[in-house]
Amino acid sequence: MVVQDNYNPYENLKYESLFCLTNGYLGTRGSHEEGTARSIPCTYINGVFDKSETFMRELANMPNWLTLKLYVEKELIGIENCDILSFTRALNMKRGCLVKSVCLRDRKGRETRVESVRFISRAHVHRMAVRLYVTPLNYSGIIEIENIIDGTVINFCDAPRFKVKHTYLTKNEALDESGAYLEVATRDNHLHEGCGTVVQAVQEGKDVVKTNVFHDFGEQAVEFLDFDACQGETAELTKYAVIYTEREVKKEALKETIQQEMKGFLQTGFEAEFELHQKACEALWKEADIQIEGDEELNKAIRFNVFHLMSTASESDSHVNIGAKLLHGEEYGGHAFWDTELFMLPFFAYTFPKKARRLETYRYHLLDAARGNAQKNGFQGAQYPWESADDGTEQCPDWTIEPDGTCYRCYVAVYEHHVTAAVAFGIANYVRITKDTDFLLHMGAEILMETARFWMSRCQYIEEKNRYEIHKVTGPDEWHEPVDNNVYTNYLARWNLRYVIALAEQLEQEHPEEYRNLAEKIHLTKEEIASWQQVQGKIYLPKKEGTQLLEQFEGYFDLKEVLIEKYDKNDWPIRPEALKTTKTSQTQIIKQADVVMLLHLLGEEFDEETTKLNYSYYEKRTMHGSSLSPSIYAIMGLKVGDASKAYRYLRRAAFLDLVDLQGNTREGIHAANAGGVWQTVVFGFAGLSTDDAGRLHINPKLPEEWKGLTFRIHCPESWLQIHIDGEQHVDITVLDGKEVDILVNGKAVKAHKADA
Ligand code: BGC
Repeated sequence: MVVQDNYNPYENLKYESLFCLTNGYLGTRGSHEEGTARSIPCTYINGVFDKSETFMRELANMPNWLTLKLYVEKELIGIENCDILSFTRALNMKRGCLVKSVCLRDRKGRETRVESVRFISRAHVHRMAVRLYVTPLNYSGIIEIENIIDGTVINFCDAPRFKVKHTYLTKNEALDESGAYLEVATRDNHLHEGCGTVVQAVQEGKDVVKTNVFHDFGEQAVEFLDFDACQGETAELTKYAVIYTEREVKKEALKETIQQEMKGFLQTGFEAEFELHQKACEALWKEADIQIEGDEELNKAIRFNVFHLMSTASESDSHVNIGAKLLHGEEYGGHAFWDTELFMLPFFAYTFPKKARRLETYRYHLLDAARGNAQKNGFQGAQYPWESADDGTEQCPDWTIEPDGTCYRCYVAVYEHHVTAAVAFGIANYVRITKDTDFLLHMGAEILMETARFWMSRCQYIEEKNRYEIHKVTGPDEWHEPVDNNVYTNYLARWNLRYVIALAEQLEQEHPEEYRNLAEKIHLTKEEIASWQQVQGKIYLPKKEGTQLLEQFEGYFDLKEVLIEKYDKNDWPIRPEALKTTKTSQTQIIKQADVVMLLHLLGEEFDEETTKLNYSYYEKRTMHGSSLSPSIYAIMGLKVGDASKAYRYLRRAAFLDLVDLQGNTREGIHAANAGGVWQTVVFGFAGLSTDDAGRLHINPKLPEEWKGLTFRIHCPESWLQIHIDGEQHVDITVLDGKEVDILVNGKAVKAHKADA
């Protein structure tokens, strides 16, 4: 349970993100049912994007299905309209619901207790519901109810400059004999979305609704109901909601589909649907839970990250991905970044391989668009956009406007090409972990070849140096842009070329027919492969002469040497004084893991000494200005034997949103960080890895605070539970599938069956 036990309106937006519920199809932020002055009430449906007057296609805020207001003699029984006698809200991560218990006293001294449960069903993703248990404590009287579907919602409602309405009204009417129905369409593509709601009021099993009237109030569908409330007696008010879009059914059939789904939902009822939903949540936890003995608070924070990440991936749709802020907030418009492949995908590949496949199938669906991007920018092959929405074109804005109104040109989309390598790397990694040859043959290989072509066209031959260079890129560290020969980018470009050279040979031998089809489809020739071979060996990889110290980019070592010397009370780098007088871009201070990210991804290319040297050099220069950084430093710190900071880095990452460390949790949950938290536990502390031959390795390094760690993973033919105790002993159980050999600290160990 993540608990909020004190109401502070200034924390509403943060809690809306923390308490957002999602089922992979849609997400609804944790706003209060009755509405509050400070609120960004959002329901996003994954895949429903619109641009209108904004810079880019962003997730369109859908009509707010949640609003439910209760009145006694016209006084709203609301958290901001009454004295708060008691207040608790909690996210129950195990059951996947948001619960609340409040006692409110209105101006006339009437006290009402309202308890509630809200869930977004994972069993039937188009269904969601909230139930209020309402008890008048010291009065009896008529309680009036307003059930609202609010189509007036906009995006960025609290930012005057950015406010935008992405939808227009198409229908506002009663759902059936009762209930409300609102239909809207997005402004650019006219994609229709319908929402139907029904409210029931029941006391001791009996329907107590006296009046029920529907109103079409412009963009709000409003249903009025009332009932007689008796002192000390609890009434159950349940709001059922159903949402569909034209992505699932023809627009002509939207309302009927929603009516039918609602009938089914009402027949099943709140409790039974909630039960089914909890079973679905239980199934998710069975795969993804991480149990830590001896460190309860941290364990909870880790589960918090796992909860939101696993909840957001779609169960069925391979045309959607996962946005950098999940479905939990407005920042980054729901766009997918390299965050998906390098931070989240490993979690999915090991715990939910089918979801991982869907995430990469999304990239395959957008391969043609990536080809278009490359062509548009004067390159070859496929170039994935830095920010990707539904159509695969670049969605990173060219301009950014600061809160004070200052505009500045943003070059991220122009130069941050390493996302294309991340997509390729993610696919290769997914295939390595899951051995999903079918995906490789029919989708993955084509992407990998096309991204290799992109890198070929980015490599520039420098005759006098007899080498290939990649100019004008931004590496993971966005505080130096653009640069030439970012060592991270160059290594990954080389990796992509080498990978496809080997892959072409392997496919030709093992899957000649599929290989022939692919070669024909993309016009791949032996000569082209030979040219890859020729270029890869000559890609420039900058480093300090005579040492193994990699140079983040050409000229980096000539920049002013500024080091991080002071740390705050949370052990976090304090901005060096020198940055007050010198621009960061003129110093060696960097935003996030860059060379260290490279060490993390291509570890086998570097010996221990090189890894240590580079880790300690760049650690002193990294500000962790992005949430993508601490987890990578934690994992690499453990690799190089500097465990001192790893545990603190993990805590920082795990609590990042819970305690709002970056100050922007209101804008959504940091999805890549959530994946990084999982990676830190599993790759870092448990020391899990899969080698190229597909063998699992475990080299545990549990922190001394932990008495034990348990988690589960899928490897190609088995599902395993791994337990590591405080003495670093490893016990592996085969929960399903074949027995498997695992290398624990280099020694082969047999994983035994659960019942053995
Ligand atoms: C980071 C990027 C990241 C993006 C989205 C930026 O602040 O520098 O690496 O992809 O946020 O999470």
